[in-house]
Amino acid sequence: PQFNFGMIGLGVMGRNFLLNMADNKFKVIGFDKDSQKTSALESSATPGTTVKGVGTLKEMIDLLEIPRKIMMLVPAGKPVDDVIEDLLPLVQPGDIIIDGGNSHYTDTLRRVKYLEDKKIHFIGMGVSGGEQGARTGPSIMPGGDPVAYPVVKPMLEAVAAKVNGVPCVAHLGRDAAGHYVKMVHNGIEYSIMQLTTEIYEMLHKGLGLTNDEMHKVFADWNAGDLQSFLIEITADIFLQKDDKTNNRLVDMILDKAGAKGTGKWTSQDAMEIGVPIPSIDMAVTMRNISALKEERVQASALYKPSEKAFPEKEDFIKQLHDAMFIGMLISYAQGLELLTKASNEWKMEIPMKEVVRVWRGGCIIRSSLLEVFTSVYGRNEKISNILLDKEIANLLTGKLANLRNVVSKAALNGYAASGLMTVLSYIDAYTSDRLPTNLLQAQRDYFGAHTYERVDEPGKFHTEWGK
Ligand code: 6PG
Repeated sequence: PQFNFGMIGLGVMGRNFLLNMADNKFKVIGFDKDSQKTSALESSATPGTTVKGVGTLKEMIDLLEIPRKIMMLVPAGKPVDDVIEDLLPLVQPGDIIIDGGNSHYTDTLRRVKYLEDKKIHFIGMGVSGGEQGARTGPSIMPGGDPVAYPVVKPMLEAVAAKVNGVPCVAHLGRDAAGHYVKMVHNGIEYSIMQLTTEIYEMLHKGLGLTNDEMHKVFADWNAGDLQSFLIEITADIFLQKDDKTNNRLVDMILDKAGAKGTGKWTSQDAMEIGVPIPSIDMAVTMRNISALKEERVQASALYKPSEKAFPEKEDFIKQLHDAMFIGMLISYAQGLELLTKASNEWKMEIPMKEVVRVWRGGCIIRSSLLEVFTSVYGRNEKISNILLDKEIANLLTGKLANLRNVVSKAALNGYAASGLMTVLSYIDAYTSDRLPTNLLQAQRDYFGAHTYERVDEPGKFHTEWGK
């Protein structure tokens, strides 16, 4: 038999992606050294579909139609290079290799060039939606090789999530653009997640809401303008019982965040090209602070933080809603600005309207706000920051007073609501026609003759300060 598509790495993501493809009538073959994983693949296939698991790459290669379409879902880093080296003696010019993991975009760039010389097509492709998404419809972010994409397009469109019947996949730009878009997707994911934790803390410790009550708050929000996957799962989380105790599971989970690096990479690259994405930076930082559990425990004994409860004001939950709404919007605004600028800086030609369209379904940051952004880019695809759109300004300004109230309440009561605080300062700075940076320029010129520009005439100036 000739198989249409091969997968290397049959962890849950790889297996589910392949099963999804088989359900869409493609004949699929998966390779894994672990025979338990190859048999798990075959035994979980839908009856009537063509799914085969093999234990050597050679077997898979021999059974694939030409040009071969081979995807890998293996951990980022060296494993990807190892797979490429194992494949090279087996594949032939014209074959297509897809890396569907969370690889760093610079690695993808290097691999694209390396394989181009050997006439092998290499597609760096972001896949979002977790295990469930892979099985039933992920959001797919391929980039790079414009020749190879049309060959795999029908398959990707078949397996991708659909919004109003339209598949959540598109060619998102040159070279490593697919992985770049996925990296920024994850940065936005980090920021929104951090903000939900801050809201949770104020609902819980501040207003004293129970898990059931918090479930209701998040479920209500998810039924309105905060409709999104992350708000939806947050509502669910509060209901989950712990099977070891009588408590809710969320209360039994250690307050120490893990991270695989994509959020940090987003911040690093934004710093590299000078694009401000403070909400994403802060989300990474807060994960790092959370990881210092032992130090935090020591410090809390030393500094005895203030009692966090505050009496419920009727409308405080509404204020928190608005703070969350603005925070979510700003998380996207910063990530999208980074994508826009990085697209120029790294010559990726990322189609922004397609990015927000592809994110509408299947991925972790899917939300109804992405509909709004699709119209923003419809009006002006070159907009540098969606905050410069009138409709976005209208959405935001009406809620700003509530964000201020929440942030001031958080500050006065000792909450580490750094994400929300950062959102507010970002807005205040970004919307200032004059920042106090004139003083900073004076200081730089004072001690280092770094020169400054003037408000009243063009040119560079230097002053012998204090003389
Ligand atoms: C997705 C997720 C996925 C993964 C993250 C988790 O889009 O499906 O983003 O890629 O869950 O990499 O990242 P951390 O482990 O860094 O939180």
